[in-house]
Amino acid sequence: MMLTFQGISKTFVSERGAVPAVRGVDLTVHEGELFVLLGPSGCGKSTVLSLAAGLLKPSSGEIRFDGELVAAPRKKVFVSPRERNVAMVFQSYALYPHLDVFGNIAFPLRVAKVKEESIAAEVARAASMLGIGELLRARPGELSGGQRQRVAIARAIVRKPRLFLLDEPLSNLDAALRAATRTELKRLQRELAVTTLYVTHDQTEAMTLGDRVALMRDGRVLQVGTPRELYESPRTPFAGSFIGPAPMNFLDAGVFEEEGRLHLRIGEEKIALSPGKAGEVRRLATGRVLLGLRPEHVRISGDPGPPALRGIVVSAENLGRERLVSVETAGGILAVLTDGEAPNEGDVVGLALPIETASVFRAEDGE
Ligand SMILES: Nc1ncnc2c1ncn2[C@@H]1O[C@H](COP(=O)(O)OP(=O)(O)OP(=O)(O)O)[C@@H](O)[C@H]1O
Ligand SMILES: [Mg+2]
Repeated sequence: MMLTFQGISKTFVSERGAVPAVRGVDLTVHEGELFVLLGPSGCGKSTVLSLAAGLLKPSSGEIRFDGELVAAPRKKVFVSPRERNVAMVFQSYALYPHLDVFGNIAFPLRVAKVKEESIAAEVARAASMLGIGELLRARPGELSGGQRQRVAIARAIVRKPRLFLLDEPLSNLDAALRAATRTELKRLQRELAVTTLYVTHDQTEAMTLGDRVALMRDGRVLQVGTPRELYESPRTPFAGSFIGPAPMNFLDAGVFEEEGRLHLRIGEEKIALSPGKAGEVRRLATGRVLLGLRPEHVRISGDPGPPALRGIVVSAENLGRERLVSVETAGGILAVLTDGEAPNEGDVVGLALPIETASVFRAEDGE
């Protein structure tokens, strides 16, 4: 099924006054796609999910399933959650504590008055897909968080929904179980080929799971793309700092022309740009840019050669496999993620700048 949001807004009216939770969102989730909504707490992700499920009515705009309107306040269209045939898994699983695992998974089928023989077969199939076939007689209270979470997913998939909506379903799990369940979820989604909208504030989860990701902030969708597009071409400094293993570095740089070539000036350093980068900078048509450098792309080296900056190490933090080194330079403090030998605090180091993979933004787009 294809899901489309067109100009969707949702404003809550509460004691706080009017809260515009979602503002003019346009989205298309393609048939069979695993689409991730990523953004910081409070940006409107869960609200978008509830709008798709029909648990909330939009204030304006239109929502369509396969081209058919399911919500359009101006046309007085609203299809109820039951008629939409969507399955939602919440962060809090919401299992029925008095029912055993079988009863929980069977619940939506019983509501739909499916015959008992078929129910037994469907439950067994979903449970085995999720590796919880041995647990059918256990009650939720006897299960671990990861097992409960799989029960909730099994309950959602037995209904053969048109649309699968997942709201931070892994956030209660420890890191190892989270990574394992993530892989399992992706495999399951492929196998079922159900169009899926997945909400998370965790960029790693979004990048590893999503076919495409929508980055949200303050009720708006800022950018939609494949994980790779978002990582390689963030459209805003916010996208650069939100996506990636560590927040992007931003350096303020002057733009000037010398001997027919475009250059950047960072502190005292002059950097000649390749024709490709020069084109990108020219398109911004500005005298100052914000250069976005990924910590994992900056290299520390004794004699880096141009383009480079020198600086003093102000801290070196051990992250296990890698070290996060902060270096104070003429352009500001730069974070460097390195898996090599880390320098000590107070060392003077050279930093090779990855200008070719750097992002350039208008200086006034910075925060
Ligand atoms: N029922 C409600 N009444 C009033 N305001 C609400 C209601 N539900 C959500 N909001 C507000 O709408 C905004 C978006 O909330 P939403 O739950 O969609 O965020 P979120 O991106 O899911 O955040 P989180 O990652 O913390 O779950 C927030 O400012 C929130 O306080
Ligand atoms: Mg939420």
